Amino acid sequence: MSHASPKTVAVSTEPGALAYYLLEFETPDAIRSAARRVNEAGWTRWDTHTPYPIHGLDATMGVRPTVLPVIVFVCGCLGALTGLALQWWANASDPANFKFIPTFLQGYHFLISGKPYFSLPANIPVIFELTILFSAFGAVFGMLGLNFLPDLYNALFNSRRFARVTDDRFFISLDARDPRFDERKTREFAETLGAAVVEDVRHSPWTAPPQWMVHVGVVASIVALVPLALIARSWTAKSPLPRFHIVQDMDNQERYKAQMENPIFADGRATRLPAEGTVAIGELYEDTHYWYGLVDGKPAETMPERVELNEALMERGRKLFDINCSACHGYDGAAYGAIRVRADAIGNVLAVRSFYERSVMEKSVGHLFNTITNGFQTMPAYGHRVSTEDRWAIVAYVRALQRSRSASVDDLTTEERARLR
Ligand code: HEC
Repeated sequence: MSHASPKTVAVSTEPGALAYYLLEFETPDAIRSAARRVNEAGWTRWDTHTPYPIHGLDATMGVRPTVLPVIVFVCGCLGALTGLALQWWANASDPANFKFIPTFLQGYHFLISGKPYFSLPANIPVIFELTILFSAFGAVFGMLGLNFLPDLYNALFNSRRFARVTDDRFFISLDARDPRFDERKTREFAETLGAAVVEDVRHSPWTAPPQWMVHVGVVASIVALVPLALIARSWTAKSPLPRFHIVQDMDNQERYKAQMENPIFADGRATRLPAEGTVAIGELYEDTHYWYGLVDGKPAETMPERVELNEALMERGRKLFDINCSACHGYDGAAYGAIRVRADAIGNVLAVRSFYERSVMEKSVGHLFNTITNGFQTMPAYGHRVSTEDRWAIVAYVRALQRSRSASVDDLTTEERARLR
């Protein structure tokens, strides 16, 4: 139990010096009335010891409410701030502004999926955890500190009588470090308190631990340093071997690697070829017209049957053309896209072909499909990023663009022709 700011005077702790007067009581009532009188007499360094908590004894002793809640609160706030600061430092601080801090302590100023560097909702879990952690530390260490624990030596344990405090006796200890303590007067005061016994508790001489305990301790301390030494060594040493792999899981299994010899098969290969005639799902490229734009090995003159020409396909073709091609070819296909214009401005040559050049107008759809799939001279390939269906949609749209600048009267309906006249 803690008193408010106990006042202490330095007293001898030499062996045999008086440390406490220990008052033994037989009933809770007896100790309660004695405690009241000690408190009223103004003592600050004294305590009661009972086998079980006695309700109201704290108040009788004049013990003030503990400051522990304040410590816990302050620690909790510190935890919250630490969580916030840590996350700000790790994610949002720009290393360019903190050059004076060593690199290995810098944060990671990474932009991840366009998310903000610093966002309170995302930081709440860590803030919460650190608040709890710091409060818990505050509570545990605060409690130990306020109680002056751990207390490895206390003269009270020199009293054999005191052992009964865990059984059936109640004690008050009057500490010799209290400014009111006076060997003669305190004893007289103690004897008026109704105690069954008043005992002098004296400091004991220092007893060294047994020899074997010292030896075990020395050996254990040295052994405890070995792992640290090993860690320190491997920290600085270089080795061609892989790291220690403590948790194996299923990482290292007996298996055959590609190109290894495997005696199970007659041909001795570890890597097996697919059985003859195997076709992976969706990879039967028999329809060369559709997949390669080739008919009998020559560029196709017509659109493949699988591609249905309709408004939706043209619209998709327009979108994909705008996304993939317009940068160079221009939205209208006249070869003045943004990149071409920029190249011209800085004096570079980007000889983009206009779709309205005769040589391009005359190309078959199969050829255009091939140009988009594999590229053409200085034009890049799009086969790997635009699907087959979509490449045909672009071909159809390119054809429509070309038609838009070369329509003949034959392209008009009778009705439209009538309107022209
Ligand atoms: C990076 C710029 C660039 C982009 C993007 C680009 N092209 Fe080209 N394209 C060129 C250049 C340059 C040429 C001329 C190549 C040559 O003749 O050396 C060309 C030529 C062409 C030709 C004529 C070549 C032939 O086959 O006769 C077509 C058709 C064509 N591009 C279509 C497209 C389509 C469709 C797209 C979108 C999928 C596209 N291009 C995207 C730069 C580009």
